[in-house]
Amino acid sequence: MKRISGKNLVLIGFMGTGKTEVGRLLADLLNRRFVDTDRRISEREGMSIPELFAARGEQYFRAAEKEVVAELASQKGLVVSTGGGVVLDGGNVEHLRLSGFVVWLDADVDTLSLRLQGDKTRPLLQSDGLAELYKRREALYREAAHVRVDTAGKAPFVVAREVVALLQGEG
Ligand code: S3P
Repeated sequence: MKRISGKNLVLIGFMGTGKTEVGRLLADLLNRRFVDTDRRISEREGMSIPELFAARGEQYFRAAEKEVVAELASQKGLVVSTGGGVVLDGGNVEHLRLSGFVVWLDADVDTLSLRLQGDKTRPLLQSDGLAELYKRREALYREAAHVRVDTAGKAPFVVAREVVALLQGEG
């Protein structure tokens, strides 16, 4: 697996694409340590992501996210799942691409809407429309990623297997 030897395997993508679940499965399959940036931020700040947004605002969250990304980029051999907005910062993208192989988990807007229906844990979905937000971000994911994997209609373990096949295919 040349693509990830000595590197991190990084999952990016919109909310609801399964980054955390697929990341966990991939870490098991590849025998690597799993780190989720949102979880790391939550632990560091001592509150959930919605609580953090409410108490300190998005800007504070983004600064914390940037620090966590920089910290993880200095490590090797991890599977890292990121928050959907990590690509908004060019420095984050540079860090992730230099230190890792970046996989974009994607799905069409209808699939994402269904998966995220009634979700109360994502502060940004409470204000902005999902389709609008997706449209604003799509090009950023495309530019940040080394490869794209479509997750629509697939269970997380199917997606994880597809990512492994992709890594193996390269030799
Ligand atoms: C965000 C996505 C969330 C979380 C925060 C902001 C975003 O992560 O980082 O609510 O800007 O898209 P998930 O993609 O894991 O839901």
